[in-house]
Amino acid sequence: MTKLILGLESSCDETAAAIVTSDRRVLSHRLAGQEAAHRPYGGVVPEIAARAHVEALTPLVQGALADAGVTLADVDAVAATAGPGLIGGVMVGLVTGKALAHAAGKPLVAVNHLEGHALSPRLADPDLDFPYLLLLVSGGHCQLLLVEGVARYRRLATTIDDAAGEAFDKTAKILGLGFPGGPAVERAAALGNPSAVPLPRPLKGSAEPHFSFAGLKSAVVRAHAAGTWSPEDIAASFQAAVVDCLIDRTTRALDRAEDATALVVAGGVAANGAVRASLQTLASDNALRFVAPPLWLCTDNAAMIAWAGAERFAAGLTDPLDMPARPRWPLDPSAEAVRGAGVKA
Ligand code: KG4
Ligand code: ZN
Repeated sequence: MTKLILGLESSCDETAAAIVTSDRRVLSHRLAGQEAAHRPYGGVVPEIAARAHVEALTPLVQGALADAGVTLADVDAVAATAGPGLIGGVMVGLVTGKALAHAAGKPLVAVNHLEGHALSPRLADPDLDFPYLLLLVSGGHCQLLLVEGVARYRRLATTIDDAAGEAFDKTAKILGLGFPGGPAVERAAALGNPSAVPLPRPLKGSAEPHFSFAGLKSAVVRAHAAGTWSPEDIAASFQAAVVDCLIDRTTRALDRAEDATALVVAGGVAANGAVRASLQTLASDNALRFVAPPLWLCTDNAAMIAWAGAERFAAGLTDPLDMPARPRWPLDPSAEAVRGAGVKA
């Protein structure tokens, strides 16, 4: 029987609620961004974010239920992000999810935000089977994961310093392109010359498929200070360097993912056209399917949390109401720690 899952997301600067069915229909998804509140600070302020989640979440849940034409009593399970992320925001969403689940007498599914990103391509593509190689590139994470099944993730690589999205955001800040940075850098890059500025490709060619972006950011600072190049040329050259690194590292990981049936990208940076296009080429060069969710499903949203909830619920994985919120929560607990990784949640 088809199940209805209510999903809640509040781990960073997006508050969201969605209703998704176990047969992949998104009945509703509502989202409230907080960009205006954080823009004066050039980045997400955790305390401002937590307060904004408190104000936004209940109306979003009511709206999502109304849009879907259902009531809480019709829902089969409540899925809420339980981490990783900014702890104040995570607590707002998780506590709300627990209260709704308790009030309605429905099971709670505590979802790892990264699992939401990791499984979101399966919501968009019914033909995507396990295992697949996932490049998860967001504001807080840059990882290569072998997705072997629901709740079965093998981390092949992570960043030793900054995440890819973080590098985009910092570059936007350095170049004065505004916040949020990723889309602003992509727009500027479209007007610049990607080979104008010589920038490094950190870790390119190294044996382990890990990532590093801190040195690239420092090089952007120096290029900007030199006053020789336009922000558009720096943005284009920066984006080309990031793409080069992502492709080189993903190519390396493919050697360790022989069973993978597809190359998949998810997370906010997957919204970037240059990133998507070059991954598409890499996949076809390796005779692999390429799957990238639609743009709205790449950046933070609650449909991906509801869908991960649906997959976990179908696998019999529900959680007790005393499930804690976790600011850090690796998808693959067995993966060895990498110096500097996971500094930003
Ligand atoms: O997945 P997400 O919405 O939130 C996290 O879980 O981090 O990812 C947000 C990140 C931000 O760093 C943002 O700048 C980046 O994704 N991003 C982009 C683009 N759109 C969003 N980066 C590059 N190009 C884009 N078009
Ligand atoms: Zn995210």
